[in-house]
Amino acid sequence: MAKLLVEKSGPLVGKVKIKGAKNSVLKLMAASILAEETCYIESVPGLIDVEVMITLLESLGLTIDYNREEETLEIHPAELLKCEAPYELIQKMRASFLVMGPLLAKKGIAKVSMPGGCAIGARPIDLHLKGFQALGAEVTLGHGYIEAKADSGLVGAEIYLDFPSVGATENIMMAATMAKGLTLIQNAAKEPEIIDLANFLNEMGANVKGAGTDTIRITGVEKLGGTRHQTIPDRIIAATYMVAAAMTRGDITIENVVSSHVKPVTAKLREMGAIVEDSDDVIRVYTTGPLKAVDLTTLPYPGFPTDVQAQFMALLSVSEGTSVITETVFENRFRHVAEINRMGANVKIEGHSAVIQGVKELQGAQVKATDLRAGAALVLSGLIAEGVTEVDEIYHIDRGYPQIEKDLVGLGAKIRRIEEK
Ligand code: UD1
Repeated sequence: MAKLLVEKSGPLVGKVKIKGAKNSVLKLMAASILAEETCYIESVPGLIDVEVMITLLESLGLTIDYNREEETLEIHPAELLKCEAPYELIQKMRASFLVMGPLLAKKGIAKVSMPGGCAIGARPIDLHLKGFQALGAEVTLGHGYIEAKADSGLVGAEIYLDFPSVGATENIMMAATMAKGLTLIQNAAKEPEIIDLANFLNEMGANVKGAGTDTIRITGVEKLGGTRHQTIPDRIIAATYMVAAAMTRGDITIENVVSSHVKPVTAKLREMGAIVEDSDDVIRVYTTGPLKAVDLTTLPYPGFPTDVQAQFMALLSVSEGTSVITETVFENRFRHVAEINRMGANVKIEGHSAVIQGVKELQGAQVKATDLRAGAALVLSGLIAEGVTEVDEIYHIDRGYPQIEKDLVGLGAKIRRIEEK
């Protein structure tokens, strides 16, 4: 198993360019199932999760050319589309469940294993299933599989989501593209990745309006064609490097970022005393003095992203004063607290909140990445900790950061990967 050895590195300085968003590209790939023609996707980051989705789509019968150098994908429709997605692939990555909506739309039947993914809570799929049922599908569960069937096709409906789930919004949106008539998704998620998916679907010939607001209107069309599409930049990676700049008291310029996508992160960094200069697609972060404690609450977009909570906790753990982080999106997303405390941080969990008492310094230690973003937080901690930090179980990090050590080394970090048999 690979691990990362991170040494105290001093201020990180320089430029870094952000690649395409994992949380967008996986959905664009799933949406390609709907197409009658080839879909070309650009800015596809080299990630394990992308490879898992390729294998899954191939297992369904699609043909895929992935040019890893050029970061482009060509996805050709299946001659005979299969409607069953097996356990071995679905349990590797929760986003694989997003093939269910497109399969149901295209085939009228889909059988998909219950999903896996990061261990950050129960992460049910009830809202996805309620959506499919509202569109007229009969949903049955058994032997670890979910089967959805709509013998006479899906029919548009009004669907209210109890919580603005990103995955449920996307799955239902894709399922509804070819349903008869109008579908309304109310209390829909508003994340930038939802807009990217809606744009992709519209380029394929769908009729999706209102993505990015809490009501999405989908008017069903007969069929969808191919398209060529550029994936949006990864706002979570951009935010991670913004935190890295503040944490190491460095000066990082982040290129290929949509500044409006990271507004809550910008706002919190400024509140702490960091300097953030932003234009439409470039952000520079640096510090001129000490950073102060702040409180924050994770929320669906445009609130503070849960995917940046762990990285911010690392930053707050070495800032002046006491901060409180309240996690409202996932019920079990504090598994990194034990790890960061092993490095000398002073974080206590109280229900859905973490109380962080800033300390002067962290110490290098052997720690493990408990999930994707937690892993990134430990790498950032290692950059400022005395001595060497060994981050184990970094396959989590590789699921979402295409080149974390290359990016960080480019900014002056002392970090290297050790491959162990
Ligand atoms: C996506 C992102 C993930 C991010 C999350 C929230 C991808 C691949 N992953 O995950 O990085 O942290 O959005 O921004 O895009 N829920 C239900 N029932 C459902 C669906 C969700 O109760 O049917 C709950 C979940 O348990 C969780 C909350 O809703 O507590 C948010 O989940 P959701 O927005 O669906 O996240 P994902 O799409 O899984």
